[in-house]
Amino acid sequence: MNTQATLSEASAGDATEPALFATMSTMRAMRRLQPDPVPDELLDQLIQAAVWGPSGGNMQRYEYVVVTDPEVMAELAPLWKRCVDAYLATTGKYAPVGMDEAAYGRMVAAIEYQRDHFAETPALIIPCYRFPEPRIEEEGLQRYAEALGAEGTARMGRIQERFSALAEGSCVYPGVQNLLLAARGLGLAANITIWHLMLEEEWKAALGIPEDMNTFAAIPVGWPRGNFGPVSRRPVAEVVHRNRW
Ligand SMILES: Cc1cc2nc3c(=O)[nH]c(=O)nc-3n(C[C@H](O)[C@H](O)[C@H](O)COP(=O)(O)O)c2cc1C
Repeated sequence: MNTQATLSEASAGDATEPALFATMSTMRAMRRLQPDPVPDELLDQLIQAAVWGPSGGNMQRYEYVVVTDPEVMAELAPLWKRCVDAYLATTGKYAPVGMDEAAYGRMVAAIEYQRDHFAETPALIIPCYRFPEPRIEEEGLQRYAEALGAEGTARMGRIQERFSALAEGSCVYPGVQNLLLAARGLGLAANITIWHLMLEEEWKAALGIPEDMNTFAAIPVGWPRGNFGPVSRRPVAEVVHRNRW
């Protein structure tokens, strides 16, 4: 049986496949939420799932801000709206290449719904991460330069900022995916968003997040208004490059 067959059977709920496959293949970004509160115990389970994710060197420097207070949510609503409006005026103005216009229209309608009902969001989770100051000695740097070579070392110097941002993100997003899957598994709706980064300083100030802490997502969570269904993704055969590109 090839991978394609295995995956499609799993998404159809084949009893021989782990239930996780059915969860993954139906984990859509769900932006329409009911206003009913989500019990703290369930939110703790989501954070537990996130914490089970890996981090580089198992450093576990993550922190999660979980907002459930309607007053705080109402304070955040104007910030959320500014970010959504900025997105819809630029990147979000047109359907991404290859995406059906009608499908994109439905997504924008859901984004606008979420924007207009943000104050009623039952819970918002903001994953944060901060690397410690690196401990590198002169001798270590010398060995680093020997291993990478002069050109590689110079290139690393040029991409250091990107490297660090990716490295920190890589310590957070596996946990975020765990959180999203756990939400789906519990019947909760959630969606990963990152547009708060356009006003990250304002979000941090509003939530008292320390200046030197980085935020990586803002994830609204609640009970779904819509139904879950299979995700629409490119076929495996189209994205795989076996042995080399
Ligand atoms: C890195 C990343 C950033 C995203 N940022 C946003 C965002 O800022 N706002 C939003 O509404 N959705 C955001 N999404 C959700 C995607 O739009 C969504 O997963 C994608 O359209 C597929 O939809 P589906 O999961 O419902 O199939 C983001 C997803 C990823 C992986």
